[in-house]
Amino acid sequence: MNDSHTTFAKTLHWSFIVLYLYGIFKQVNALEELEDKELLVFEIIFASIFLIIVILRYSYMRRFKTFLGAREPVHIVHYYFARSVHKAMYACFILLPLTGLMIAGLYSQGYTVNATPDEEQTIMDFVLDLHGAVADLSYMLIILHIAAAIYSRLKGEGVWSSMVPILKEDKPTDNKIIKKISSIEEKVYDKVQTFFSSNKK
Ligand code: HEM
Ligand code: HEM
Repeated sequence: MNDSHTTFAKTLHWSFIVLYLYGIFKQVNALEELEDKELLVFEIIFASIFLIIVILRYSYMRRFKTFLGAREPVHIVHYYFARSVHKAMYACFILLPLTGLMIAGLYSQGYTVNATPDEEQTIMDFVLDLHGAVADLSYMLIILHIAAAIYSRLKGEGVWSSMVPILKEDKPTDNKIIKKISSIEEKVYDKVQTFFSSNKK
């Protein structure tokens, strides 16, 4: 136990954040901006590169188990919860460029208007809403992910040190409050596990 992620995995993790932030901050603000052919082509190239990098990253990372750095065995419920959050993040990183590419395709086919709710809705309005909803979901998942990483660091589980180059932990915490919260957390996981196993019977 107490393994660390590979240098390549760490490089992927941290450099991808730059790509993601660039994608979010340089975002197209309104459909009309796509009239600019150069911007449209740039967006298509960016979204394609983004998509390829996400697929390559996922293919590489899926061989490593979740909580690779944990010193102690992790509760099965906690494990599946974290794994689901990671998978949901990947789903967002795939859907963001995919819906972006769909917007580009539809725009080129003549769907150049973003209707207001009382106007007749087209497939373009649906894809634009989906694009925005996926972006919002990705923000929420990332906030949850970072909060979970900080909480794990406070507990001193070893997971933080396996990916983050600073503030590394060397032993589990002695802090009484964190230990208390952690024991409540374990009880919640036990309850969830009991609920699912009794539902199976
Ligand atoms: C301060 C910011 C962050 C911290 C401290 C952090 C910490 C971590 C840690 C400790 C892991 C390893 C978890 C494990 O081994 O199971 C991890 C994995 C992961 N992180 Fe972060 N992270 C941060 C920001 C982000 C951001 C902004 C994203 C997305 C843009 C992200 C996406 C992921 C994904 C998808 C994984 C799963 C493993 C992988 O495929 O790389 N993280 N992170
Ligand atoms: C990885 C690639 C992409 C990322 C990360 C991204 C991200 C975003 C984000 C965060 C928004 C704001 C959503 C909101 O405010 O609800 C947005 C809006 C938008 N994006 Fe993208 N996008 C990407 C690719 C594309 C592509 C390829 C196109 C089309 C060529 C596109 C067209 C648009 C348009 C037209 C809007 C404005 C929607 C509106 O009128 O409200 N995006 N994008």
